Amino acid sequence: METIHTVAWMKQGAREARAQERILGLVPTMGALHEGHLSLIREAKKRCSPVVVSIFINPKQFGPSEDLAKYPRPIERDRAMLEEIGIDYLFAPSAEEMYPAGFRTTVVVEGLSDRLEGRSRPGHFRGVATVVLKLFEIVQPRLSFFGRKDAQQVRIIRQMVHDLELDPEIVVCPIAREPDGLAISSRNVYLNAAERQAATVLRRSLEGVREEVAGGERNVSRLLGNLSEVIKRQAGVRLDYAEIVDAETFEPVISLCKNCYVLVAALVGATRLIDNALIEEEPTSFRVTI
Ligand code: PAJ
Repeated sequence: METIHTVAWMKQGAREARAQERILGLVPTMGALHEGHLSLIREAKKRCSPVVVSIFINPKQFGPSEDLAKYPRPIERDRAMLEEIGIDYLFAPSAEEMYPAGFRTTVVVEGLSDRLEGRSRPGHFRGVATVVLKLFEIVQPRLSFFGRKDAQQVRIIRQMVHDLELDPEIVVCPIAREPDGLAISSRNVYLNAAERQAATVLRRSLEGVREEVAGGERNVSRLLGNLSEVIKRQAGVRLDYAEIVDAETFEPVISLCKNCYVLVAALVGATRLIDNALIEEEPTSFRVTI
């Protein structure tokens, strides 16, 4: 594995791989690697060679009161995990390298970026779109891998790729979970033992939706009412939002449609966690994937 810190050198490595007509795969991350990231990297390894993993804690996607300073940075551990899994390039630029003095450009995917996560975290998706576009330009991957855990992020990146006629194919991977169902996240390390236990309510609330849908419930306000109740009953957890949205528009729906997402965000103590389930229409029923 070659570790690269500069944009120029990463461009050079990527250019050489493309010249050999190899299928270059990119997995963008902010590090503090966990099984969720590794599942993306494994998928990339199955489909691409060489594989580039980027680790860049992107300051532009953190709000002023968010956790940029305390975001975990176990870089040596991350490097060892990547060595072990066997990737070709680790691209780990500094903030100055990605955003040199005088950097002025921001990418905004209108509308989709203002709702849900975007409303709770103003400016977040501008930061995400800006850095992902820049990574795509530097690496120019054939495929790039993202997790369904961040469903709105995936939708926004897809829109950007479509609108700007970008080349990378976006591959979406399932949500990796802890044995008790908690979606794996770099932020789970902030949870103390009681909060860690309480955090499983997000997954449980989605299980509730799955059971109700299996039982024939189609009414979104009843589904959301029950989901919110489950979360409200859990001490130490404060619901930020719970919505069922069309998977294409990310606008709320009244009754279940062809493809929709149940999206939840909650504060567990001081830690903000998100989770979701995908609901897909089948010939005679709906399939709920958590
Ligand atoms: P980060 O939170 O490090 O996540 C990197 C990738 O891993 C994202 O595509 C995310 O959806 C995926 N991921 C995280 N937890 C996962 C889980 N439990 N199961 C499956 N996939 C999971 O998302 C970002 O970084 C940044 O916004 C980034 C895209 C790198 C831009 O800065």
